[in-house]
Amino acid sequence: MTTTSFTKRVKRRITARMQVFFAVCPPGLRSVCLRELSLLDLPVQDIQLLPGGVAFSCKLNHACVANAWLRSPARILMRIARFKADRFHILEKKLTAVDWELFLPAGTQPAIQVTTHTSRLYHSDAIAERCLPIIRAALGTASAQNPGTPLQMIPQTVMIRSENDGFDISLDMSGIPLFKRGIKQQVTQAPLRENLAFAILDAAGFTPGDPLIDPMCGAGTFAIEGAMIQAHIPPGFFRSFAFETWPGFSQAAFAHAKSLAAGHFSPAGPVFASDTDPGAVAALRSNLARHSFLAPVQASRQDFFDMLPDRMSTKKGVVVLNPPYGRRLEPDQNTKKLYRQISKKLAADFKGWRVGLVFPKKHMADLNHPGLAIFGFFHGGLDLAAGIGTI
Ligand SMILES: C[S@@+](CC[C@H](N)C(=O)[O-])C[C@H]1O[C@@H](n2cnc3c(N)ncnc32)[C@H](O)[C@@H]1O
Repeated sequence: MTTTSFTKRVKRRITARMQVFFAVCPPGLRSVCLRELSLLDLPVQDIQLLPGGVAFSCKLNHACVANAWLRSPARILMRIARFKADRFHILEKKLTAVDWELFLPAGTQPAIQVTTHTSRLYHSDAIAERCLPIIRAALGTASAQNPGTPLQMIPQTVMIRSENDGFDISLDMSGIPLFKRGIKQQVTQAPLRENLAFAILDAAGFTPGDPLIDPMCGAGTFAIEGAMIQAHIPPGFFRSFAFETWPGFSQAAFAHAKSLAAGHFSPAGPVFASDTDPGAVAALRSNLARHSFLAPVQASRQDFFDMLPDRMSTKKGVVVLNPPYGRRLEPDQNTKKLYRQISKKLAADFKGWRVGLVFPKKHMADLNHPGLAIFGFFHGGLDLAAGIGTI
């Protein structure tokens, strides 16, 4: 097959058609993602809340932009086939019929992830063992047909999901999880994921015009996410994605969307990020030094309890705290005492500021800050809660 006829097939079968996508979200963030998707200036249809995430339909080039623009999902999957199979020979036949070479670069050796639920083919390892050679063989033999595709080191994963004998075959478009913004190289202990930091900022009503204080900043997850929002920089602007190597990827359309976004960048700030730990402040400074838009973020070594926000900003904004809480099932006395002191400090010096405060347990939020709205989320194997409100 010539390159031109291959390109025509990719266009006819992949890029010119509406496709179905699924934004995988952490618990508690599906409705945030749904709102983000509806607000994107993209022709996206059939947005639907489903268990584990949000489904939507659009063309591939618009889904590529959604990957780089959405802050809440963990990854976005593109569905490439859907069928029924209750025997291995049917599954193998259906998988063989997929035009793998139109979706993934020739020669790719993708990984595979299988989940099954109430299906006759219930053994996920056995399914993976049958499916992987079929996919790899299809992509291996296709290399002569599409010799120009660059192979990069971004992971490619085929996701196979079966429920009641119905199979969905998808590709992970994102490759590296979307909460990795490609900015933070240094992390400290217990960093929050960027999509959770965004959800807390969002719940606190943080907008680009608001000053932000991150007084227990670690390596600066909240501070950097907030500065990106202030500067109108899409979360995926500085990183790469699995779809960038796909035959259907339009480098020109993606670069055009990014250059339009770059035309709206504005200066970040004010953001105040501080921590008592000199190692954390050094990690933060090293992260800030990598991008000029982060220059307005003020990093300092400071104790939260000595902080006087009215001396830092005449305008009241948002203060976000992710205090140290350990990994115990029940918070110990020191943690409880720390949260009581934080409550007192916020009440004394942060009047009129909106707060997003991470709690290790929902009931602690109820005890210490009865006025805060609580949303629960799951992070690092822990059921956490964020308390949101105005002091
Ligand atoms: C869970 S970590 C924060 C992680 C950070 N949100 C991130 O994502 O990288 C808690 C941080 O609070 C800092 N800390 C503890 N007590 C503090 C205080 N009184 N004032 C300022 N920072 C404090 C610790 O040094 C630690 O870096």
